[in-house]
This record gives sequence, structure tokens and C-alpha cells, in this order.
Amino acid sequence: MRLSTLFLPLVSVVSVSALEQPKADQPTFSRGVIFTPPSDYNDPRVLYARSAQFADGSLIATWENYSPEPPAVYFPIYQSTDGGLNWKEISRVQDTQQKWGLRYQPFLYILPEDFAGYKAGTVLLSGSSIPTDLSKTQIELYASTDKGVTWAFVSHIAAGGEARPDNGLTPVWEPFLMLNKETLICYYSDQRANTTQGQKMVHQTTSDLKTWGPVIDDVSYTTYTDRPGMPTVAQLPNKQYIMSYEYGGGPAIPSSYSFPVYYKIVDDPEKFGSAPGISLKATDGTIPSGSPYVVWSPVGGENGTIIVSAHSNTDVFINKELGQGLWTKVATPEASHYTRHIRVLNDSNKLLIMGGGQLPPSTTNKVQLSVMDIIPVPVLCIEALGQCMIPCLRATHTLPEQDVFNLESKFLFDILRCRKPTLVNTSEIAVDFVEDEGRWKAGEVQRSATLLDGEIVHGGEDSAGFGAVKDDGGHGCVVGRRWREYILSPGVE
Ligand SMILES: *[C@@H]1O[C@H](CO)[C@@H](O)[C@H](O)[C@H]1NC(C)=O
Ligand SMILES: *[C@@H]1O[C@H](CO)[C@@H](O)[C@H](O)[C@H]1NC(C)=O
Ligand SMILES: *[C@@H]1O[C@H](CO)[C@@H](O)[C@H](O)[C@H]1NC(C)=O
Ligand SMILES: *[C@@H]1O[C@H](CO)[C@@H](O)[C@H](O)[C@H]1NC(C)=O
Repeated sequence: MRLSTLFLPLVSVVSVSALEQPKADQPTFSRGVIFTPPSDYNDPRVLYARSAQFADGSLIATWENYSPEPPAVYFPIYQSTDGGLNWKEISRVQDTQQKWGLRYQPFLYILPEDFAGYKAGTVLLSGSSIPTDLSKTQIELYASTDKGVTWAFVSHIAAGGEARPDNGLTPVWEPFLMLNKETLICYYSDQRANTTQGQKMVHQTTSDLKTWGPVIDDVSYTTYTDRPGMPTVAQLPNKQYIMSYEYGGGPAIPSSYSFPVYYKIVDDPEKFGSAPGISLKATDGTIPSGSPYVVWSPVGGENGTIIVSAHSNTDVFINKELGQGLWTKVATPEASHYTRHIRVLNDSNKLLIMGGGQLPPSTTNKVQLSVMDIIPVPVLCIEALGQCMIPCLRATHTLPEQDVFNLESKFLFDILRCRKPTLVNTSEIAVDFVEDEGRWKAGEVQRSATLLDGEIVHGGEDSAGFGAVKDDGGHGCVVGRRWREYILSPGVE
């Protein structure tokens, strides 16, 4: 059966399915800008960005926002409903308690289930209320039950002294929230034990969001000048938890006082204290440092993938052995930031990397983000006859061939335009639709996807293999047999 005779029937049939299943996949992109601060903002204008994603896929972001005072500084809340491409301000979280200003280290957390009288989907925001003269610190908890549009104060978590990172001063800062069974944990950095430790890392828990339990040590070293800080925690599929942190004075970098990245792995996320800290060192010898962030994604094999970012590198560091074994350095499209927030999006092969720039002095900071594939995807290019458009299928996971169009699995593939098509052996491009005159049979799996430029591509599968056509008004192309035969080297985008 010659391919050219298949085009029209195939196109006409699958076009119908496009109306039934339009779907906007999570885009990947580099260095999108959320907010460029005006020049009257105070140094460093913006810093320390954080995000959250709702179940409907929409995103919110916030950051340290150094607007001219008075009025007191606040945490801006920006929203994106297109996977992070476009953002708009939807609210400002104001310091309704001390009225000092919500100044440092905001953190966003969406309740994954009902908790303490709040419904799943409630956004919690923690961060430090600090006066303009930086004389005090107060880690606060606010909540929004309408996806970030309005906010209400919930409780005070921890109070400390002057907000400067000098040993002997007593600030509390850098909160990170995580629900664990019937409690919410707030991890943070704590300088209040100022006779014994420059800084340590601790947590407190609450079961009602109102009252917080005792301060429990998570990372605490005996050398006074050691400064472990910046806790972030991720749950692993074996029910363990990994905490990443910077270890000011850590022995992994003996040549100078630095902040090498360390991590701890525990069974109980309230018991990091006794676990040993492990230095993160990549296979190429890189020891990342400064303000790390850890997340876990289910993609990448039986253990999924642990991903750690740090200030020192535009790369991320990944581990596929549950935190044992090797860490590999992987390039990302996002710039260096003082803290590079990372998030595994609901399309779990997509990593968001967000930052607010560098510590002061800086007049160039802006809030920006990139979204990249965690597992570099195999690229499948299809080139049929001369008249054929050239869609390019990129499977986002390595899947058994029969799963390519499995409707049960989310986000199985992206279809992108091939700017630089790579040839498939055209003699293999043939589909045996003879029995059905080239039409998709009723009940066959069909999928469609929207290209980044808005065009729609359809795919389908029958016993002979699968096909893909671009909805360009009559022309299309189709391949058959087994999709693996057509996987070519990456690099087409
Ligand atoms: C994931 O996000 C997309 C939009 O980016 C949304 O349409 C979809 O409903 C979300 N799915 C889940 C399971 O959260
Ligand atoms: C610890 O903090 C207290 C309260 O700010 C201060 O009075 C004291 O001098 C500090 N101690 C050291 C060793 O810096
Ligand atoms: C998964 O993690 C375990 C424990 O570290 C390790 O033994 C195993 O090799 C890992 N599997 C893969 C595919 O890396
Ligand atoms: C193309 O595929 C056919 C059939 O599988 C094979 O005989 C031929 O050698 C291939 N040509 C190239 C250039 O690979």
C-alpha cells in the first residue's frame, strides 16, 4: 500500500478527534520573565523566588520584593494559567500583624489534603516579618482558600532577633513547610542558640495550624562558626525523606569558608537530627554550594530521580538511586540565582527552575524561570513523501511501543515542529491500512496535541502501528510499524 493514497482518508478521520481531545501540554522554555522590578526598588530589588502549582495546573509565584518604603514591603503573588509562560499579579500578602513588612524568604505550600479545618488546595505562605531596620525576625503563617487571591493571617511560628547573618545575632529564617501524616512541619534556620552555634537548622510542628510544638534540631554542628541552613525536603518513593542544605564551614570544601551542599536521608521527617550529613559531589568532581533545593520526580526509572539545585551552578545534580550512589551534573537553561527554586510540575517530566537573582549589591535582578525536561527525550522524526509536513514526535518517557498513545498515561508525548528534520528510512514508512481503506477503526486510540505555535497534530494507532498527521488542511504524513524503529538522536526542536 503506498503511503500517498492513505493521506486523505487518514487526515479526514483523525481531524474529528481533534475536536474531542484538544490538550495543552506543559511547555518547556528558557528564562521567561515574571517580573522586572522598577529602578526605584531597593537593592537587590527582588530575590528568593518560590512557586506552587494547583491541581488544575495553574501556578503561583512569590519572592522577596524590595519596593520603596513606606509602605511596608509585602510578598507579591503572581499567577500563570499557561504553564508559566505568562504571569499577572493577583494579590499582595501584607503584614497584618506586626506591620513591619513581609520581607524575607517566602515559601508557598499547597495543602495536598484537608488539614486543620482547611480544604485540600489551600495555599499556605510562610516567610519572615522583619522591620525596615532589620532589628527583629518573626516567621509567620498566612493562608489563602481562593488560590492566592485573598490572604488571612494564621499563626506566628518562631520569633528571633536581628535579621543579619552574623554569628552571635539571633534571627530565625528560611522556612520550608511539609505535611507529614497529621502534622505540618516547618523547617527553618535558627541562630538563637547563639552561645553554642552560629546557626543550626530546626523544625517545629503543628496539628491545628495555630499552636506550634517545641524546637527540634535537624542539623547542628559543634563548631561555633558552622552555619548549616536553607532546609528543603522531598519525599522518596521508598517512604524515606531527603533534606538538602548548605553547610557553611562544611569540610567538603576545605580551602576556604564555603557553603557546600550536604544532604541527610531519614525514615521519619521529624528525625533528621541524628542522621549523618553527606556531602553532595557529582561524578565529575563538582561540589555544588549555596542555597540548595531538593525535589523528587517519578520519572527516570524504578527509583525516580532526585534533583538538587544550588547557587554555584546553572546545572542541577541528579541521583537515580534514592540518594545512594552517584550524582550526575545536568545542564539547565536557567541562570544562576542566589537560590534556585525547583519544582516538579504535574507533568512529572517537567522541571521548573525559578530565581530572583543575586544577593546585594544587584541592580539587575528580575524574577524569571525556565521549564525543562527532566529526562532528555528521545526524538522521533517523521518524514514521509515530499508533500508531507514534518511533525516530530518526542516521547517524554521511554515507554513500551504499545503505550505511545495509551490514554491512561498522562502526557506521554509532545509533538513539536521539526525545524531540522532528521530523515527516517522512507522505505520503512508504510502502513498497512488496506483492510480498512486507511481509516482509523472505531475504538482505536487516537491522540492530538497542540504545537507550541498553536497548530494541532493528531496521532493514532492500530494493529499495524501508529500514525501522525499535522492538521494543515489535507496533507499529513504517517508512519507505521513500530515507533522504536524511528527513534533518532535528540537535537531537533
Ligand atoms: C496539570 O496541569 C494542566 C495544565 O498545565 C492541567 O490542565 C491539568 O488538569 C493538570 N493535571 C493534574 C492531574 O493536575
Ligand atoms: C546572644 O544574643 C543575645 C540577645 O541578642 C545577646 O545579648 C548576646 O550577647 C548574644 N551572645 C553572643 C555570644 O553573641
Ligand atoms: C534504585 O535504588 C537502589 C537503592 O539505592 C539501587 O540499589 C538500585 O540500583 C536503584 N535502581 C536503579 C535503576 O538505579
Ligand atoms: C531502509 O530499510 C529497508 C527495509 O528495512 C532496508 O532494506 C534498507 O537497507 C534501509 N536503507 C537504509 C539506508 O538504511
